[in-house]
Amino acid sequence: MSPAKVERRVLTAGLLLIVAVLVVGLSTVVAGAEETSVAISSVVSTSTAAVTTVTPSVTTTPAASGTGAFALDFTLPTFGKSGCMVCHGDPNLVVAQGDATHSFWVDEAKYAKSAHGTTVCTGCHIDYGFKAPHGQAGLDWRSVAKQSCKNCHPNQYRDWSLGGHAPAPTAGTPDPKAASKPLCGDCHGGHDMAILKNNPAGQALVRSQAQQMCGREGCHADYWANYNDYYHGAAYKTGADDAPTCWTCHGTHTVLKSTDRLAPTNSANFGAANSCGTPGCHSDANSAYTAYAPMIHGRAKITQQNPLVRFLDTVFGRK
Ligand code: HEC
Ligand code: HEC
Ligand code: HEC
Ligand code: HEC
Ligand code: HEC
Repeated sequence: MSPAKVERRVLTAGLLLIVAVLVVGLSTVVAGAEETSVAISSVVSTSTAAVTTVTPSVTTTPAASGTGAFALDFTLPTFGKSGCMVCHGDPNLVVAQGDATHSFWVDEAKYAKSAHGTTVCTGCHIDYGFKAPHGQAGLDWRSVAKQSCKNCHPNQYRDWSLGGHAPAPTAGTPDPKAASKPLCGDCHGGHDMAILKNNPAGQALVRSQAQQMCGREGCHADYWANYNDYYHGAAYKTGADDAPTCWTCHGTHTVLKSTDRLAPTNSANFGAANSCGTPGCHSDANSAYTAYAPMIHGRAKITQQNPLVRFLDTVFGRK
């Protein structure tokens, strides 16, 4: 080989080596970049985690708090009920709040017997996932859970939205009374809803809950107290099976004021064909029922206005 040829070969090999080094070096840099971006997305974006099959691990900062023991790194199927129950199934999941403690324990046995025994937790807690901290800052998780129902029960949601219990649709301005109106979960609760379908025991249980559902403080305690007439309220309060509960007369989800012509409690609707004639009630309802209706919530007031009752009250020193 001539020295010139050798020189050319050495040069070519050198060039090849440089190219090879560059290629390898560059690809390591690229691979490294990919690795970092994967790592970032698995930490930051939980929505990506929901789509991919890779289960993200939650990185939490171990906190020196009452629940510190629960703030661990872990890897579990994201949407499974069992995943949430790893922590919430523990009766010891109690957090100190000031002088009191608050339990975040979910009783699995009770939950399994409820109407939502097979519903995943994130069906209602739609703003939750395995991320720390829980929920999203600024989101009112309670009201989210209490109205998540509409995704699975659209008919009841439609009925509710047509009544006075739903915020009134006003152009531009929010209903000033909205905060005091009940969302689904305010009446139904969260984890222990009774099964109603084909379940007389569950139906009877809910039927007996008029005071908790409608007549509690902050809602209609006054109308619970004055629901006292002999045929309806007094009978209901002694537990009579055939006495009406609030929603037998007022309707369940589309609740309207009695002044509304469409309300079942409007005096125009007391006939045998509508409210008073509800199957199991008064198939013979006639105009006399209109005269009786004020007694339902007004017995005390009406008897007080009766001169004979007033006389007896004075004689016997009753108030
Ligand atoms: C790693 C343990 C852990 C897991 C897993 C977990 N939680 Fe929690 N959760 C907690 C702790 C601890 C609290 C109490 C919050 C606090 O410290 O104030 C809590 C509180 C809550 C609350 C009350 C509101 C709040 O944010 O304080 C809800 C609702 C909740 N969790 C739902 C869920 C759901 C749904 C899942 C499953 C998707 C889940 N949790 C999985 C530990 C966990
Ligand atoms: C049918 C809807 C629904 C489902 C399903 C559901 N929750 Fe709830 N959950 C609620 C509602 C509504 C509340 C708020 C109750 C309230 O404020 O009265 C709540 C409250 C909570 C709380 C806070 C308790 C408290 O007293 O502060 C935790 C923790 C919780 N849920 C965890 C879970 C877990 C874990 C599951 C699954 C096993 C689950 N939830 C399934 C509706 C639901
Ligand atoms: C003012 C209280 C109240 C509110 C608010 C309320 N419900 Fe109900 N709901 C009831 C009562 C009471 C029953 C039981 C009716 C019965 O047994 O005849 C019921 C029954 C149901 C049932 C069983 C099937 C049926 O229609 O009878 C479903 C499902 C339901 N509600 C879902 C919802 C949803 C979803 C919302 C919110 C959009 C909601 N409820 C809001 C009181 C309420
Ligand atoms: C992820 C879907 C889902 C969500 C969210 C959900 N439910 Fe249900 N609910 C169901 C299923 C499924 C059943 C049982 C099947 C049935 O009868 O409809 C059920 C049953 C019920 C029942 C008993 C009905 C009966 O006739 O036995 C009531 C009452 C009820 N849900 C109310 C609510 C309320 C109130 C909320 C919100 C706090 C809610 N649900 C949220 C899926 C859901
Ligand atoms: C037998 C039928 C019947 C039952 C049961 C019944 N109500 Fe009424 N309710 C009426 C009638 C009729 C009116 C309108 C006349 C009046 O105000 O006395 C009314 C009026 C009301 C009003 C005033 C708003 C309006 O629509 O005029 C409230 C609030 C109310 N009822 C709540 C309740 C509660 C809570 C229960 C259960 C504890 C209940 N009612 C049970 C028939 C009934």
